[in-house]
Amino acid sequence: MFSRIMATGSYLPDKILTNQDLENIVDTTDQWITERTGIKQRHIVADDQSTCDLAEFAARNALEAADIDPQSIDLIIVATTTPDRVFPSTACLLQQRLDIHGCPAFDVQAVCTGFVYALDIADKFIKTGAAKRALVIGAETLSRIVDWTDRTTCVLFADGAGAVIIEASEEPGILSTHIHADGSFAELLTTNGGITDVGPDGLDNILIEMKGNEVFKMAVNTLGRIVDETLSANNMQKSDIDWLVPHQANIRIINATAKKLKMSTDHVVTTVQNHGNTSAASVPLALDTAVRDGRIKRGETILLEAFGGGFTWGSALIKY
Ligand code: ACO
Repeated sequence: MFSRIMATGSYLPDKILTNQDLENIVDTTDQWITERTGIKQRHIVADDQSTCDLAEFAARNALEAADIDPQSIDLIIVATTTPDRVFPSTACLLQQRLDIHGCPAFDVQAVCTGFVYALDIADKFIKTGAAKRALVIGAETLSRIVDWTDRTTCVLFADGAGAVIIEASEEPGILSTHIHADGSFAELLTTNGGITDVGPDGLDNILIEMKGNEVFKMAVNTLGRIVDETLSANNMQKSDIDWLVPHQANIRIINATAKKLKMSTDHVVTTVQNHGNTSAASVPLALDTAVRDGRIKRGETILLEAFGGGFTWGSALIKY
């Protein structure tokens, strides 16, 4: 038994923050952000919206594309770094919204690699017969934990959600998944606090901290290795890949991976210019963009990859 992607969906909040807008917030320029990251604009959640709201829009978008009854979903996994609450999980909050009862629902926290982790887990549920149809989502409201006085990070992160529905299939869809972590790098990309640090004022002011340049070098090297690992596990050549759908952190990191694959940029899905880095939402958002605009077609081979805080990294090779 294999799993295959039935349908994709996504959602971006209405508010757009451009590089020019950021010039009025911190000491930066459109030119610096464009040249160093590739980002031109990003979407920011409305004050009254939560991660679960974004996840619900993306989920309904995918359910509509799949044209299935939500009651047939028997597993819900939400990858997020910015859950609505400490508990219940965002997946349980979403399950309630979708009026689905009884099936397992849980969150996965692997920062920018979260969606690849969630897909890996859902694929294993299906392969073992524990589920038949899974809703897998990456959703983030990262703007809520961005330090808007830190020009080295606030220009990067953004909000959004992407979803896929995968189902059991006799034909291979998800060919392989590969997930890794090395917690010894935790301090290079982290938040300045968490539950341990809750003071009398409650859980307030948790902000992203990143040593960008060190993360950059690790990301390029590690993603190069995971490309090799994925191809070798499937006995495939670089030329067998039709599409690279990478985590959208920085155009220079994406281009380095494309170069490693000897892939022309027209076979690389890039949304970073419009979406910024939406962490766990970035890969499913990019996937849905290229599925809906007709670039990715049934039967094509797609390599998904991601790298993020932890450090965590992973890939999925998919016959769409
Ligand atoms: N505007 C203008 N100047 C800036 C800005 C800015 N927004 N940000 C930094 N600079 C300056 C720095 O202060 C520095 O100045 P100095 O030389 O006078 O000290 C200079 O630009 C170069 O800074 P670097 O940090 O070396 O710049 P770099 O080329 O590495 O780009 C960036 C920074 C974009 C953050 C890059 O390192 C990067 O993309 N890192 C990886 C991010 C990533 O992949 N994260 C993993 C996923 S995220 C997750 O898991 C949540």
